[in-house]
Amino acid sequence: MRKHRSYSTILCIALQVIAINLFGQAVQLAAGVKKISSGVVDKFTPYGFCSEAPMAAALDKLPAGKLPFDIGDIKINITDRGVVVEVPLDDEEQLYGFGLQIGSFNQRGLKKRPIVNDNPLNDLGYTHGPTTLYVSNKGYGILINTARYTTFYCGTTDKLNKNNKRNDAGKTGNSVEELYKNDKKAAGYVTVDIPGAKGIDIFVFEGPDLKSVMQRYNLFSGGGALPAIWGLGVKYRVKADFNQSQVGKMAAYFRNNHIPCDVLGLEPRWQTASYSCSYVWNKSFFPSPNEFIDTMKNKGFHINLWEHAFTSPKSPLYEPLKNKAGNYLVWNGLVPDFADTAAANIFATYHRDTFVNEGISGFKMDECDNSNIAFGRDSWSFPELSSFPSGIDGEQMHQLFGLLYQKTIYNIYKKSNKRTYLDVRASNAFASSYPAALYSDTYVHDEYIRMIVNSGFAGMIWSPEVRESTSIKDFMRRSQTAVLSAQTLYNSWYLKNPPWLQINKEKNNKDELMPDAKDVEADVRKLLNFRMSLIPYLYNAFAAYHFKGIPVFRALVMDYPKDKNTFNLSDEYMIGDGILAAPLTERADGRTVYLPAGTWYDFNTNQKFDGGKSYTIKPGLTQLPIFIKAGTILPLAEPVEHVAPDTKFQVTCYVYGTTKTDAQLFEDDGLTFDYDKGVYNTVNLLWDKGHGEVKRNGKYKGLRYVVRKWQLIN
Ligand code: GAL
Repeated sequence: MRKHRSYSTILCIALQVIAINLFGQAVQLAAGVKKISSGVVDKFTPYGFCSEAPMAAALDKLPAGKLPFDIGDIKINITDRGVVVEVPLDDEEQLYGFGLQIGSFNQRGLKKRPIVNDNPLNDLGYTHGPTTLYVSNKGYGILINTARYTTFYCGTTDKLNKNNKRNDAGKTGNSVEELYKNDKKAAGYVTVDIPGAKGIDIFVFEGPDLKSVMQRYNLFSGGGALPAIWGLGVKYRVKADFNQSQVGKMAAYFRNNHIPCDVLGLEPRWQTASYSCSYVWNKSFFPSPNEFIDTMKNKGFHINLWEHAFTSPKSPLYEPLKNKAGNYLVWNGLVPDFADTAAANIFATYHRDTFVNEGISGFKMDECDNSNIAFGRDSWSFPELSSFPSGIDGEQMHQLFGLLYQKTIYNIYKKSNKRTYLDVRASNAFASSYPAALYSDTYVHDEYIRMIVNSGFAGMIWSPEVRESTSIKDFMRRSQTAVLSAQTLYNSWYLKNPPWLQINKEKNNKDELMPDAKDVEADVRKLLNFRMSLIPYLYNAFAAYHFKGIPVFRALVMDYPKDKNTFNLSDEYMIGDGILAAPLTERADGRTVYLPAGTWYDFNTNQKFDGGKSYTIKPGLTQLPIFIKAGTILPLAEPVEHVAPDTKFQVTCYVYGTTKTDAQLFEDDGLTFDYDKGVYNTVNLLWDKGHGEVKRNGKYKGLRYVVRKWQLIN
């Protein structure tokens, strides 16, 4: 026994020595996740607030990655100004990330400041989701665990090296081009500037490739979010000043016209005070809220409430939060100190008792970003110099406010074993497991598409909402993008009628509907029906996000990392494993689509395409611009108008160009977290030599999918 113990002690010491030699001060946190630290690290960091446990078993199953440099080559320098980090970078590396970036995709050669803001401000890096994580195509990710305003120089800075003479010294050009030509051979490192910090934790996520780095990051953050199944249907937000009966009429409009809708969102006026918020039903608009929630529920609608966290003096939460708030007000409301669990609990308990227990299915957590130049409005929110009782400062609170707000609200649902799908306007690192879709007022369609592509590198869910439009073409193209995204959202917060009946805001509010309103409505119905057909496929892709960390929506470079044509491709993306989406904006009837290696099928025509080439496509306004990868089984359901607890999807399996393949569907109640206790089924769809078969494994007793038909597309 004694001998045995001494052997293990020796082994332990030996392993530690190896670890120290290999990784400097690196600490292994989970398989392929290491942390290096230096100095006195901040008390308030994104990881410090992560309370989700890593998905250890799934992390263990990922293939091992290897850093292309020695981890000890990451340099941390603490100066009077703050912390400077240098991470090796080679000439060929491509970099992605920094959260939900709006204006750029491949970050190599750029200077980025991921700072929370509702406006991209010349692509400086300002975003709703400013994560200090970047990922390299050499197969690793670097996360600087800070809530301070941080700048990343992605191979753009050249240091003076006193030992070397510059070989181009004194070179002048004869032409203007030569004069201004940049020495493109960039520095061999990414430099990170974190002013104010006295120390830092750096998380290193190993690959081996881009996709597995993101899997590791998402799994380490607790696994990707699995929204309530109804959340994958259509969400419609009604005009801000609608009252109970107007919302009822809108609900009836959807059902009478057979337009799918699962969630109705109420905007500011449901409360007695909204800027700042009272969190009290305005009884002159909603005389009987509980009855209203129940009636809507019986018609198959979930109700989602708009709010923000700035607490009005008129709110019952004002007194309890008064000593647990920042020293500056926003719209005359308190800024709750969500960094203090006591403050978060007060906010959560009230929301649980008043809303969640009464049947409210979700919230839209607005205004948690802040703005330097808000669209025509003044800048708003609390200043960076604010202080909070917990000790967090205003700058850190800004970066973390959306994250902590989400955590506060999400935990109510999690503790109640009810799933949800939330909206939120700011997020940050380690939020992968929160089922909250980010949204934005920016409304530039190309940017909305790029954000879908970037969301896969952010561990975030993004919903490119649809509102008014400049033309019907614009409206339909935006609707297509919404259908091909994580949340299909129409945000009519200032539109009396659905935008498909009148795209022009003024006319819409005067009830002047378009002459062809019914035709546009029919076209939108087709698109939304497709969305409903896609739910089984999407839901399975979300299950893969949860259990394996694979982003549902992701850049092509994640799936085809060796293909240089994908390095800068930011207007196409994968949905799950088998669908490639190439959305169009209003500018043209057609676009170029690049298809990576393999065989692809145009979903609309079934035409076959060879990959590795670009093609021009011209899908119509009711045709979704998607391609299906050969070998895919695409399970499409008969569209339902909403997803009820007992909905059984009637599925046709379309098999694309193969004699033998398989696919899965994820089957559970869609409403609770019981899946985390193993209560779910894997429905295996098996195709072999012209014959399809369904095999179920698992503990879930219900039945959500009935496979009616198999069809080969060849
Ligand atoms: C905005 C939000 C809009 C809408 C509006 C209501 O900040 O982005 O979607 O909810 O507030 O006042």
